[in-house]
Amino acid sequence: MIATASDDARKPRHIAIVMDGNGRWAERRRRPRTFGHRAGARTVKLCVRFCLEHRIEALTLFAFSSENWKRPKEEVGALMSLFLRSLDREVDELHRHGVRLRFIGERAHFSAAIRERMHGAETLTAANSALNLTIAASYGGRWDIVQACRAIARDAIDGALNPDTLDETAFAARLGLSDLPEPDLFIRTGGDHRISNFLLWQMAYTELWFTDTLWPDLDNAELERALADFATRERRFGLTSAQIAPSQGHPA
Ligand code: FPP
Repeated sequence: MIATASDDARKPRHIAIVMDGNGRWAERRRRPRTFGHRAGARTVKLCVRFCLEHRIEALTLFAFSSENWKRPKEEVGALMSLFLRSLDREVDELHRHGVRLRFIGERAHFSAAIRERMHGAETLTAANSALNLTIAASYGGRWDIVQACRAIARDAIDGALNPDTLDETAFAARLGLSDLPEPDLFIRTGGDHRISNFLLWQMAYTELWFTDTLWPDLDNAELERALADFATRERRFGLTSAQIAPSQGHPA
């Protein structure tokens, strides 16, 4: 039988995306890079709609990395204004569609206005369950692991944790996205084939899918292709094909 993307067992529960190519998209049109970021924000909406329509449980978008703060001051400023405007404009509609919105990353680096909007959006949408939308902002996979280590060290000092009993489950519980299934499918637009310090721990068994399409040009047809390709993958999680043969779903 040919697998189809509509086959639920072969549908990703959680998609994580590196949205790359906004700058090049704008440069090709001889426009400032920030023009590309604004176009990229429209693709974010398209992607959220796609996930709602396909009943994907979780979507995690890499919007701004720990390293992106080092970009030219004007570009960082324009991105911050775009985040603020997007939060002001989109949160009510996301809420109406039952989206739970959360942020992972080093929040202290953002302005008070952005932090306040982030907190407001998280509080407003906390009880929603149609889609878990997580925006990784000022985020790095290494930062995430280090902040989990800090939490563990604090718990050990306080006597709440015995270092000898620390295991992978207890460690993962201190990372971002700890209450979500690990990403099944990673998508990166823009032609580069790397993870770029995204969810380093959480993507241990994630299927990777790359496209040359620049983020603002991504459309539903291409997202369908990513799902169809995912449906053909044999996920072994370290086992043999024979061991996983009868059910090709998610690990218990
Ligand atoms: C990478 O493209 C993109 C970013 C660093 C910013 C992502 C931001 C958005 C998609 C806009 C809005 C997002 C939200 C959540 C409201 P790049 O600039 O590195 O492109 P390049 O590789 O062509 O230079």
